[in-house]
Amino acid sequence: MKKLFLVLGFLAIGCSGGGSGATCPTNSTLTYDNFGRQFFATYCDRCHASGTRPALSTLALIRANSTAIDSESAAGPSAVNTAMPQGSTTVSEAARRQLGEWLACGAP
Ligand code: HEC
Repeated sequence: MKKLFLVLGFLAIGCSGGGSGATCPTNSTLTYDNFGRQFFATYCDRCHASGTRPALSTLALIRANSTAIDSESAAGPSAVNTAMPQGSTTVSEAARRQLGEWLACGAP
């Protein structure tokens, strides 16, 4: 019975348009230096450099907002989230998958 509730819980999360469900493969090579910094500089900092709406301009801020970022912008087995960057479709799904993976790895 416990298991059933667990499954239902996950389904409920999936339905709320939430996380990408991305996981961290053991051979992941993505880091802030080779991926994150550039991704946020290119797609997000224009609107999220500082102050309002969460600021996402440092690695610490990105980690602190990791769950929300995943739900807005990352792709994985559960969802391809495209709410951010707002008003733009320039981020490829491949890049969104990388974002999901990098966040799932703890944004190293
Ligand atoms: C054109 C401006 C713009 C760009 C570019 C943009 N955002 Fe946003 N973002 C906003 C605004 C405005 C809000 C607050 C209103 C809202 O939630 O829609 C917001 C809110 C958010 C939130 C908070 C949502 C919540 O539920 O609290 C997150 C997380 C976020 N953006 C992530 C990102 C990421 C990641 C990128 C880059 C891939 C990005 N945004 C690019 C304008 C932008």
